[in-house]
Amino acid sequence: MIKVEGLYKKLGDQPVLEDITFDVSEGEIISVLGLSGAGKTVLLKHLIGLFRPDQGRVIIDGVDIDSLNEEQLLKVRCNMGYLFQEGALYDFMDVFDNVAFPLREHTSLKPEEIAGRVREVLKLVDLDGVESKFPDELSGGMKKRVGLARAIVLGAKVLLCDEPTSGLDPIRSRDISDLIRHVSQQIGSTTVMTSHDVNNSFRIASRLIIINDCHIAAMGTAEQIKASQVPFVREFLQMSTV
Ligand SMILES: Nc1ncnc2c1ncn2[C@@H]1O[C@H](COP(=O)(O)OP(=O)(O)OP(=O)(O)O)[C@@H](O)[C@H]1O
Ligand SMILES: [Mg+2]
Repeated sequence: MIKVEGLYKKLGDQPVLEDITFDVSEGEIISVLGLSGAGKTVLLKHLIGLFRPDQGRVIIDGVDIDSLNEEQLLKVRCNMGYLFQEGALYDFMDVFDNVAFPLREHTSLKPEEIAGRVREVLKLVDLDGVESKFPDELSGGMKKRVGLARAIVLGAKVLLCDEPTSGLDPIRSRDISDLIRHVSQQIGSTTVMTSHDVNNSFRIASRLIIINDCHIAAMGTAEQIKASQVPFVREFLQMSTV
């Protein structure tokens, strides 16, 4: 469903990603881990065409997204959900309008159909009775859920979640991780998330990718990552697991 082949990216004169190659099969959940500044967000933004590779290719559902013009890219993006690291909710809109926004922008659904769909996804992310609240009235965990609802409201064959657990306590982190797994299964999405959270990544991801020094330091199932002999991976796991 997703293929990244030999991706190189420099930002300014700094290389950020070098020779990144991996695939994600349909229905998989992949977690991309690494230190702050490792390039996790930059990688995720390549998957939705917000960054374009200097070299290499990003193929989504058989289509090289670098070959698309803006209009074609928009169409592909309508099948993709993106949960931004900072949440990116509109502060001046209540929860209902935040979640309804993509439907109003990209579909010609009638108001009652929009309302039905918004309620359906808010239920799926376990949020009831908050439709008329504004983002600054919500806890961090609730904002992530609203962000997730907005990311999936158009239907997301590919779901990209940037640090869904950052800033949350251990219980909320586990809950949102489990929710991402539940939602991915319910909507049948192929999911790529980024995280610092090794334990929850082990918990929900079918495979993990650890990025260090612009490269993939390790990739595989939890068992394969735990057995890695790469010094950085061993140190990263020791620092991060409890
Ligand atoms: N738009 C940009 N222009 C220039 N440099 C950028 C841009 N976005 C990111 N970078 C640089 O790319 C590198 C990787 O950043 P990125 O945000 O992907 O890290 P990250 O792994 O997501 O970190 P964190 O865990 O803190 O979210 C950093 O050195 C950052 O300064
Ligand atoms: Mg990031």
